[in-house]
Amino acid sequence: MTDPLTIAIASDHAGLELKRHMIDAAEQWRVQLSDLGPADMTSVDYPDYAHLLAQGITRGTYRLGILVCGTGLGMSMAANRHPGVRAAVCTETFAARMARQHNNANVLCLGARVVGVGLAEDIVREFLAHDFEGGRHARRVDKIELPS
Ligand code: RB5
Repeated sequence: MTDPLTIAIASDHAGLELKRHMIDAAEQWRVQLSDLGPADMTSVDYPDYAHLLAQGITRGTYRLGILVCGTGLGMSMAANRHPGVRAAVCTETFAARMARQHNNANVLCLGARVVGVGLAEDIVREFLAHDFEGGRHARRVDKIELPS
């Protein structure tokens, strides 16, 4: 059984190199990222990995996730189809902090063709360093879900 505090990471081929870099960087911050693939540069379809990681968030296997593709966009579109998943594409650190504090985002999407490795590291650190503030934001986040 996976530790429910586990943070998962996945990518497509375009995001693979940045994903590997993030796994190594996170290790230095004593944060373990569970790699859901892919393992090599073979061309893959980003929704397959977005769905895999998002299912783990919905089931409670992972508390947070990071998805890396060329732009972060396709990953976020696919991940946001899953119940309870709030995936945010972030290209700078302010949005990464707000995504956690105000939107209770549980998946961070990065564009490896958009941000450099240094900025990507800062974005991930900011995302992981902050928690949801709740309060008035909880009411608004609840309203994101479609009424059943
Ligand atoms: C792959 O070429 C690219 O389309 C993908 O990584 C991503 O940017 C999609 O949103």
